Amino acid sequence: MNRFGLLRKLIEGKELTFNEANTLEKTPPNSNFPFKYIIVEKLKEQGANAEIYLTKSKNPRIAKLGYEKTLLNGYKIQREFKKRGVKVANPRGMFRVYNPNLKRFFTAFVMEYAKGENLSKIELENPEFEIVQKKLEKEIKKMKKLGYKSYYARSKYLDESFFGLKLENILYDKATGRITLLDFDFDKLDTKKLYTNENGGNNR
Ligand SMILES: Nc1ncnc2c1ncn2[C@@H]1O[C@H](COP(=O)(O)OP(=O)(O)O)[C@@H](O)[C@H]1O
Ligand SMILES: [Mg+2]
Repeated sequence: MNRFGLLRKLIEGKELTFNEANTLEKTPPNSNFPFKYIIVEKLKEQGANAEIYLTKSKNPRIAKLGYEKTLLNGYKIQREFKKRGVKVANPRGMFRVYNPNLKRFFTAFVMEYAKGENLSKIELENPEFEIVQKKLEKEIKKMKKLGYKSYYARSKYLDESFFGLKLENILYDKATGRITLLDFDFDKLDTKKLYTNENGGNNR
């Protein structure tokens, strides 16, 4: 298949074989992650470490590019949280995504796009702030039960954080009142806590 056909396949949300990917880039990143997704547009919002893109597909997703080890850590934590009812952006997995402008594949953590604005950017009226705070407290309680340890709660950035969460990693959708938590790349989950369940599944 020629380059155009392969690009179309990616846009249609299909996975490429190694040989197909190999015609797009001679030495793609060396991992077992599937060759899937195409990225063209950088999101307006960017973080301090990673690069955030939208995937080009019928249902655009977020592709977070950065160091594999860090992304993988964040992905695993987010996946556990999602499974256990914490309000996080829905993770899809680790992939090798293609940037057609640079003609290269990049390792990425792909997740659903979550609506909302960064809590660091919005002024909330007092009553609304209290509601958001209550919601966050509820999430943090769940997360702590799962053995969550925030990097920021252990760092000199403590002042900027809220229950150990950075405001820029919390999205708030004013229209629906929904909060979504993001970015666990440098955090930890105590897996000992994760895999013991003396409460008989009543972890929420
Ligand atoms: N799934 C998502 N849905 C919507 N916006 C997102 C999503 N993931 C990241 N963003 C936006 O991109 C910013 C940077 O992403 P983040 O994962 O925090 O990167 P970094 O690790 O560099 O801080 C976030 O603060 C948020 O505004
Ligand atoms: Mg961040």
